[in-house]
Amino acid sequence: MDHRELDPAITVAAGIELAPLWDRFEIFEALHHTMTIDNPMTSADLDQVVEILSPTSGERALDLASGHGELLRRLRAKAAVSGRGVDLSPWMLRTAHRLTTEQLGRDSADGRGAANDITWVIDEARDHGRNETFNLTACLGASWVWHGFAGTVRALAERTAPGGRIAIGDMHLRDGLDANSVTESHGAIESIEELEASFDTHGLDLLGRVNTTDDAWDEYIQRTREAALLWAETYPGERSASFVSEQAQWQKDHARDREILTWSVWVATKR
Ligand SMILES: C[S@@+](CC[C@H](N)C(=O)[O-])C[C@H]1O[C@@H](n2cnc3c(N)ncnc32)[C@H](O)[C@@H]1O
Repeated sequence: MDHRELDPAITVAAGIELAPLWDRFEIFEALHHTMTIDNPMTSADLDQVVEILSPTSGERALDLASGHGELLRRLRAKAAVSGRGVDLSPWMLRTAHRLTTEQLGRDSADGRGAANDITWVIDEARDHGRNETFNLTACLGASWVWHGFAGTVRALAERTAPGGRIAIGDMHLRDGLDANSVTESHGAIESIEELEASFDTHGLDLLGRVNTTDDAWDEYIQRTREAALLWAETYPGERSASFVSEQAQWQKDHARDREILTWSVWVATKR
């Protein structure tokens, strides 16, 4: 497939201009094109999230900022859910669609049900699905879309039917650190208690939290380095070199932040 060609099975939402998105999201692709999980979680962490979400057959799932779509594929592998993955990056959804088609092919060869029940939509996550409800909603690693954790909890709660479950992945202050002294040295960072208070505000009860290890975060950053170097080797030039420099900055930021921040996924249910 051409470097920037989109499979027609991927929907481009009304009002979205596709052409500029290839450039805008190339850097993220350069740093993640070798991965299926585009955040600091391990595969076992993601399985645990799916376990707590407990999908059942016939349920509908919405993953906002779905990346390469691994969460939806794992939900689907566990129960016959239908899913919609929404992301602004055509790169991400092109790979999500390819990986899903490959999985369907394997399922079909194994004699398992192989209906194509996941759709991919290029859209701005902020407003997507506002007038619909789903049984399962998720946003792993894109809380900036709703200006932080509380806004993301609210956005997911609004799109979730009673009895449904949400999953939200984000950075947060390490357990046991004194929020006041960290605020003095690094600026305001919310503690777990502060973050978790927003679940109740939006009619949600916490079901569990999956914490990633420091090693998993280090390994993710290392993967972004290897991905950026491979991209630069495959597509040599100034643009790729700038992605390698940007990744080096990620690495510096990570070295600074890992003493105070860590990454978790929360799963909650709508009352
Ligand atoms: C850290 S990645 C997480 C991807 C996926 N949830 C995962 O955990 O593997 C963030 C994703 O957000 C997408 N994104 C960024 N801004 C967005 C927006 N405004 N609307 C939709 N997707 C967005 C990026 O393209 C990227 O795929």
